[in-house]
Amino acid sequence: MRNLLPLIGSHPGGRSALTCRFRCGDACFQETPNNSDNEYAGDIIAGAVSRRSMMRAAAVVTVATAAGAAALTGPSAPQAEAAALAGHGHGHKPWPPHKPGRSGARGLRFSPVAPNRDDKVTIPAGYAQNVVIRWGEPILRGAPAFDPEKQTAKAQAGQFGYNNDFLSLLPLRGERGRQVMVANHEYTDEILMFRGYDPANPTREQVEIAWAAHGLSVVVVQEEYRTGRLSPVNRHPLNRRLTATSEFRMTGPAAGSALLRTSADPTGRKVLGTLNNCAGGTTPWGTTLHGEENFNQYFANGSTDMHKRYGVRTSASGRKWERFDERFDLSKEPNEVNRFGWVVELDPYDPDSTPRKRTALGRFKHEAAEPRLTSDGRPVVYMGDDEKFDYLYKFVSSKRMKKGNSRAAREHNLTLLDEGTLYVAKLTGDSPVTEIDGTGKLPADGEFDGSGVWIPLATGTTSHVPGMTAEEVYVYTRLAGDKVGATKMDRPEDVEPSPRTGRVYVALTNNSDRGKEGKPGADEANPRNGNKHGQVLELAENWDDPAGDGFAWRLFLVAGDPDDPSTYYAGFPKENVSPISCPDNVAFDAHGNLWISTDGNKLGSHDGLFGVATQGDRRGELKQFLTVPTGAETCGPVIQDRRVLVAVQHPGEVDGASVENPASVWPDGPGKIVRPSVVAVWRKDGRDIGV
Ligand code: FEO
Ligand code: CA
Ligand code: CA
Repeated sequence: MRNLLPLIGSHPGGRSALTCRFRCGDACFQETPNNSDNEYAGDIIAGAVSRRSMMRAAAVVTVATAAGAAALTGPSAPQAEAAALAGHGHGHKPWPPHKPGRSGARGLRFSPVAPNRDDKVTIPAGYAQNVVIRWGEPILRGAPAFDPEKQTAKAQAGQFGYNNDFLSLLPLRGERGRQVMVANHEYTDEILMFRGYDPANPTREQVEIAWAAHGLSVVVVQEEYRTGRLSPVNRHPLNRRLTATSEFRMTGPAAGSALLRTSADPTGRKVLGTLNNCAGGTTPWGTTLHGEENFNQYFANGSTDMHKRYGVRTSASGRKWERFDERFDLSKEPNEVNRFGWVVELDPYDPDSTPRKRTALGRFKHEAAEPRLTSDGRPVVYMGDDEKFDYLYKFVSSKRMKKGNSRAAREHNLTLLDEGTLYVAKLTGDSPVTEIDGTGKLPADGEFDGSGVWIPLATGTTSHVPGMTAEEVYVYTRLAGDKVGATKMDRPEDVEPSPRTGRVYVALTNNSDRGKEGKPGADEANPRNGNKHGQVLELAENWDDPAGDGFAWRLFLVAGDPDDPSTYYAGFPKENVSPISCPDNVAFDAHGNLWISTDGNKLGSHDGLFGVATQGDRRGELKQFLTVPTGAETCGPVIQDRRVLVAVQHPGEVDGASVENPASVWPDGPGKIVRPSVVAVWRKDGRDIGV
């Protein structure tokens, strides 16, 4: 047995009760919202699965990493995966053969960090780190220095927000050594922000500070010569804060719908605020996407079936915002909640632009939105709905991206996500269902794998779902997924296409309810009952025909203690891997390695960041790059050649903790308030990460 640490906490989702209350509105303690009788493991649409599309060669496009955004290069040459897919048909696996060998994966040549519970960011030997920016640091002109005892909403609106999650680094032309950092601020931990906080009686000032601490930040960062150290450029003209009260515009086919109108906005097109922005994406046309995730928790007094399907409470909300703004009280403003749960697109290069909520991408608990281009230049956006037994989606635009940075190209590209088709995934295993016994035991063919079909839900103003209008499909997307028999997944989190191979990776973080009485049991894509540690699914598309219905899939990782026979590390010898649990945010490096951050490690260690090769003889060799402080989740990650950037979210979020009784003293040590912060890591010798 390897030296794993004893377990801490017993919350079913792998997190402290404090996390449940502030992050998800106690979602784990409430009935899972998907009680549809939608067949989950059956085969109603399997006949529609076409492997024909996968038998054609696929041209693959290089995408939207930060570097891709830099060059805005668009389609590149066909890649190896195309050849692999070309020979794929019935009875044949589409994947190239894999044999473990001796060479180390380029980009992952570092000494792995051991599991630990240290209240710090632990990094490999030979690497260095700095805190790039902390909650409360001023970024806008006129914002004061952070003082935890003198917080005001006005100050917070000019300072870096709370609980940084998604991060993007975009190039900044003409300013040497500088990049534009965009960060999500998912939610607030009032009990760790305010001395003497009384959850039953928040003050107006505390609520307004929380509104200002949510949302997004745009901050220009400056790199230090010859190191990876980054620091914020205070008062840069591109710096920006968007909060729970900033103006956003609804666009796309459901904009203006009666379902989106409120007394404050009879147009159904103008929304105040973005909430619970979790992960996101960076587009090849130089914008960022931000998923509104657990938006339900901010609303009180839900009453309809749709409120229920989206997990809105029928009573007061946890933060009691409805006491200070009636729009959060659904008994008074029932449609306000429909204006959240979208993907937001932000143009960080235009500080005067109004960010858009893109209705064509559907409404659910959006974890992330990661785009890629088809071989003819149209964006495809992959999206997970992070809820037990909810679904995996994609959107395929009907428009091609225009290359270049001209004003006309930029204006055109800002319309790409308003027209296209929204799909939901149905996955079918290729092994007999009797071989999927819920323990994680591999079936006789040696893999959890199979085929899938993308079921179209709506194209523009045309609905493909019987009994639902297109507007209803976009606003009540979960219901559309229920009706067409989408596969109930183990909490789909971040989804990332590989810029090298075109394969798409889906983090499925866990699902403690899988197989419980009255709940769906294991299927080949979600093969463990009471799934504590999660899995990573790998999906192969035909990039020549992304609107085609079929794809192939297999599980890349089945997470957990490598000594546990239910785990699987892509076939790599498990004695040589780091243990991983609860995969969440994912990113690729330039070498084609997948980097996975975790949230809610159930093996007793703090959460961390891991790198794993997806191709070649080291495929499946997973190595831990860092761990985060007590109570924190690892977010962000951005992997550049010389730098790894992570967002350390909710440090100190441990049951019983408060400002007066902190569980973590990161990043500034004893006597200082714990602060969610962004961290950069680089190699001391100045060379690239992991080579
Ligand atoms: Fe905000 Fe699904 O994690
Ligand atoms: Ca199989
Ligand atoms: Ca997440």
